[in-house]
Amino acid sequence: MRRTLIVDVLNSESPVESITVCGWIRTRRDARDFSFVEINDGSCLANLQCIVDRGTLADASLGQASTGAAIEVGGELAPSPGKGQKWEIKASEIRVFGLADPETFPLQKKRHTDEFLRGIAHLRPRTNKYGAAFRIRSEAGYAVHEFFHARHFAWVHTPLLTGSDCEGAGEMFRVTTLAPGDKNVEADFFNKTCSLTVSGQLEAEALAMGLGRVYTFGPTFRAENSNTPRHAAEFWMIEPEMAFADLEDLMELAEGLVRHVVAHVLDKCAADVELFDRFVDKGLKDRLQHMLQQPFARISYTGAIDILLAAKDANFVYPVKWGMDLQTEHERYLAEEHFKRPVIVHDYPKEIKAFYMRANDDRETVAAMDVLVPGIGELIGGSQREDRLDVLEGRIGELGQNPDDYWWYLDLRRYGSVPHAGFGLGFERLLMMLTGIANIRDVIPFPRTPGSLEF
Ligand code: 4AD
Ligand code: MG
Repeated sequence: MRRTLIVDVLNSESPVESITVCGWIRTRRDARDFSFVEINDGSCLANLQCIVDRGTLADASLGQASTGAAIEVGGELAPSPGKGQKWEIKASEIRVFGLADPETFPLQKKRHTDEFLRGIAHLRPRTNKYGAAFRIRSEAGYAVHEFFHARHFAWVHTPLLTGSDCEGAGEMFRVTTLAPGDKNVEADFFNKTCSLTVSGQLEAEALAMGLGRVYTFGPTFRAENSNTPRHAAEFWMIEPEMAFADLEDLMELAEGLVRHVVAHVLDKCAADVELFDRFVDKGLKDRLQHMLQQPFARISYTGAIDILLAAKDANFVYPVKWGMDLQTEHERYLAEEHFKRPVIVHDYPKEIKAFYMRANDDRETVAAMDVLVPGIGELIGGSQREDRLDVLEGRIGELGQNPDDYWWYLDLRRYGSVPHAGFGLGFERLLMMLTGIANIRDVIPFPRTPGSLEF
């Protein structure tokens, strides 16, 4: 390829006589004899400075190109006398692909609010912050695959169109080809109700019963009408499922995964993390490094309730008592204030958890675990699965459901059942943790939230 990426240019060991780069102009400064043009091509945070000698290169070649314009620059890569940059290009050739009218192009060089940039989600990948966020998103995804691949987990693809509600929370988007108002489900595309999946877990369990260790990594959908900075209607989830594994194995896997991704991103996205540390969330880098230095805390749900009850100064909105579902304020208190690091809470009351979680001998709790992290609260939710057919059937009945609807899921317990366990990690919440970005809408290129479906 004729074009060299700026990330490669900046890592160059030596000058290059002739090189071609492409990018969008971030700034252009015209002096008497020279124009200084900084371009960015998205391959890294840094811009590349191009020096245009207006004596030798016709001024017209750069023309009206200003902030936002797309150009190609050919020339010599030479050591830069300027501070903060090793190389610059002495341009000998310039081609302008597309101009950006300064009167109307919204991304002029100044600070913009997150809200403003959300309104131009199609242009915000060209800013430093969102470029960095989406590069980290890409690297973190790569690190997830790397982690599982090294441990012989098969990446499996579970359906997005589904007839079952895994979480039983009734937060499903309906998918239909029926005309509006037509309620004849029998005549619908699948002859039954179809929804977008909230989780690939049930199918992942079936795959784990053959492949041993599997994980999903794909989109999931929730029609929960909660307008919070941590909920999106469409988000990506990572769901490993392991045969021949218990809750202890699961906690180890969860902790290992999070730490692997943190280490990978600190290593591969140093400049991008630095940007977030300086401008978005001071102390981010220290906090991430701290996560690598000591193990996550662990505590039972009962122990966590005791801590929350003793937290007299916390002034929780939701009063604390055994049996309640932990609210974000409680989760954050545990991770941020009490343990000051990620904490795994395990063995929750069965009443607040899903039907598939394995009942403990005390008959009150299930072998569940959530990973709570500072700044966010719940990052991961999972459990050892109920592998005993009669207990699982009983639980489904208790919840007023029809076991026939789960016939294939129950078959997994009927034939060659094994202790097994899995969890779901919300990829966007992980990205919030990695960047310090406080709103989930800003780690997703085109977020879907209640009332918002532009782009
Ligand atoms: O705790 P959840 O609901 O668990 C499940 O769906 C299980 N079936 C997972 C499993 O065991 N295989 O969701 C898992 C994680 C949460 O911890 C959270 O990080 C994320 O998914 N999550 C969301 N992220 C963004 N927006 C939402 N609306 C989310 N709902 C859950
Ligand atoms: Mg959960």
